[in-house]
Amino acid sequence: MPEQQLTGTYDIGWIGLGVMGRNFALNLADHRFAVACHDRDPRQADRLQKEKSGRHAIAAAGDLPAFCRLLRRPRAVLLLVPAGKPVEMVIQALEPLLETGDLIIDSGNSHFSDTDRRIARLAQKGLHFMGMGMSGGARGARQGPSLMPGGPEEGYERVRPVLQAAAAQTGAGACVAWMGHGSAGHYVKMVHNGIEYSLMQLIAETYDLMKRGLGLRPDELQRVYERWNRGGLNSYLIEITAAVLGQKDERSGGPLIDRILDAAKQKGTGQWTVADALQLQVPVPSIAAAVMMRHLSADKAQREETARMLEGPRAVFRGDPPILIDSLENALHAGFLITFAQGLALLRQASRIYGYQLNRETVARVWTGGCIIRAAMLEPIRAACVRHPEMPGLLTDPELGRQMQTRQSHLREVVRTAAEMELPAPGLMAALAYWDAARSGWLPANLIMAQRDYFGAHTYERIDAPGTFHTQWDAT
Ligand code: 6PG
Repeated sequence: MPEQQLTGTYDIGWIGLGVMGRNFALNLADHRFAVACHDRDPRQADRLQKEKSGRHAIAAAGDLPAFCRLLRRPRAVLLLVPAGKPVEMVIQALEPLLETGDLIIDSGNSHFSDTDRRIARLAQKGLHFMGMGMSGGARGARQGPSLMPGGPEEGYERVRPVLQAAAAQTGAGACVAWMGHGSAGHYVKMVHNGIEYSLMQLIAETYDLMKRGLGLRPDELQRVYERWNRGGLNSYLIEITAAVLGQKDERSGGPLIDRILDAAKQKGTGQWTVADALQLQVPVPSIAAAVMMRHLSADKAQREETARMLEGPRAVFRGDPPILIDSLENALHAGFLITFAQGLALLRQASRIYGYQLNRETVARVWTGGCIIRAAMLEPIRAACVRHPEMPGLLTDPELGRQMQTRQSHLREVVRTAAEMELPAPGLMAALAYWDAARSGWLPANLIMAQRDYFGAHTYERIDAPGTFHTQWDAT
């Protein structure tokens, strides 16, 4: 059909036709929205043409002016291009082609500070800009991702029907909601990824304890994770862990997992989470341990050299394997809960400092389906947020606190066993220390304050009198 006849008729614009982008465009079109697409690489549009069927109302425009002409006014343009310079370039190219009231939604993993800057800059030109977290990988994009939009609320209202139709659906509704003001959407997605790093690290530690500690083979491990996935740990990450362990290597015929290099890569969102948690002074030690273990794993040559000089862990287990496996399941459950508690605590503080007006219940609900961290335990977490919307920490909820109390001895046992076997379990260890410290009415920080005052006259407070005090410590 000539472009003339289609001008101004498409419901939504989509820029960025990588695998995830193509899948999300098809998902939108599956729901009977007319989608105009563009990618600066024409081969991506060709791929989309091959993948779409006759019932999809999708048009691919070769350049941005043609793309913008296709869209119904006021326009809504979603982007999924790599964070950083590519996002900036697309926005700058779009700006002169758009009109007052048009909306741009960045669906990639942009840093939240870039999003705030863009919202302010584009608002001066009368354009709405939103940052939207999208989780679920390529499959989620096609079948229903979890969507975390934030920014101008009127912008969200305009695309709400589209996003609700395309998002994952659970018993609690569509996995999309307006997260809050400014960069709230990208902030929530960043914390989602920080949680993702931690859950992955915790699972990896249980894998290590069963692989090196108990000598279980991948097929045996696969069955353990499958069983765990049928219980309280039911989650996407446990499900795919079982599937990964069952995957055969086409080259060798053996388990693929044993052929994969043990050096983790990352794109940086976990690191951003920890960096901002430090900035806001919110402890997220499990997430930090996960990021740092990725760093430690990445330098394999250095580790191998150190292992030759200092001898690697002996990993001798002297207990009853089924008992340890049972403890690992409970410890992992506790580690997951503690990770969610840390992530939600960070969101609470970020909401206060950045004025997002986040609602933790809404966040937990949007995470119950479609995203990488979806897990059955998010439902009791959501329920706890409903019961106590103002609670400072998730684990103070009686139900979640009970779940922790019944599992803490297992977490302790696993940490002890890992230490005895000389196997690194920093995620589990950090989770246990956080649990113990957070419940500790007294901590040895009095000594730290005394030391600070001793060497730097930094003063301290007393428990029995108001004010600040300084002592001449070495005055004798
Ligand atoms: C998601 C994922 C997605 C991406 C991660 C990978 O929610 O769909 O989190 O955003 O796969 O960012 O992150 P790393 O490359 O840093 O592991």
